[in-house]
Amino acid sequence: MLILSKAVKEYKMGDSLVRALNGVDLEIRKGDFLAIVGSSGSGKSTLMHALGLMDTLTSGTLHVNEQETSKLNSAQRATLRSQEIGFVFQTFNLLPRLTIENNVLLPAQYSRRAHPAKLPDAIAVLERVGMAHRIGHKPNELSGGERQRVSIARALINKPSLILADEPTGNLDSQNMVNILKLFTDLNAEGQTIIIVTHDPDVAKNARNFIRMRDGQIIETDLKR
Ligand SMILES: Nc1ncnc2c1ncn2[C@@H]1O[C@H](COP(=O)(O)OP(=O)(O)OP(=O)(O)O)[C@@H](O)[C@H]1O
Ligand SMILES: [Mg+2]
Repeated sequence: MLILSKAVKEYKMGDSLVRALNGVDLEIRKGDFLAIVGSSGSGKSTLMHALGLMDTLTSGTLHVNEQETSKLNSAQRATLRSQEIGFVFQTFNLLPRLTIENNVLLPAQYSRRAHPAKLPDAIAVLERVGMAHRIGHKPNELSGGERQRVSIARALINKPSLILADEPTGNLDSQNMVNILKLFTDLNAEGQTIIIVTHDPDVAKNARNFIRMRDGQIIETDLKR
């Protein structure tokens, strides 16, 4: 479903270049449940943004369902992203002026589907993350862990085939962490492909496979293919 090949991502910082991805090859198959681990600054979020079509590569290629994505313009990328991918940002990225249900519905508005998700669908995904009781509230009225759960609900609203979640349990207490990991396990059992970034070995154990990153490269993997 996703094939990343020789991926390089460089950021310009004044006169210097930061090479956040330094030649990453990775194949994700339908139904995979993959954990990405590695120290801070190793390139995990950069890799997720590349896989999620949030950002373009400096060089290398990303195929999504056999389509080479570097040839797509930004509108085509946005359409593909909203049809296939649900993204949980490390920093949540909720819009402060919108209620939680309207935040959850935003990807539905961009999806250009004939029948986009509506309020009852938003309530249903908020129920799955235990946040339906806070409908009508805005993000700044919520705790960090509550915002995190709303951002997970938003990633589910379009029923994406691929969920990319960057530290989705980083702000959760142990009970909510268990609930969210069970949710991901259930979604994976229903056929959704899931990639999570985590620094927590116990969280990584919930996934079927893992890769470890260091200095923009994959240094360890158990993807025996
Ligand atoms: N927009 C940016 N501009 C410049 N450098 C960046 C940018 N985003 C990331 N970097 C750099 O790229 C490298 C990889 O960053 P990235 O955010 O992918 O790491 P990470 O593994 O997700 O770390 P963490 O565990 O702290 O979230 C770091 O050196 C970071 O400083
Ligand atoms: Mg990160």
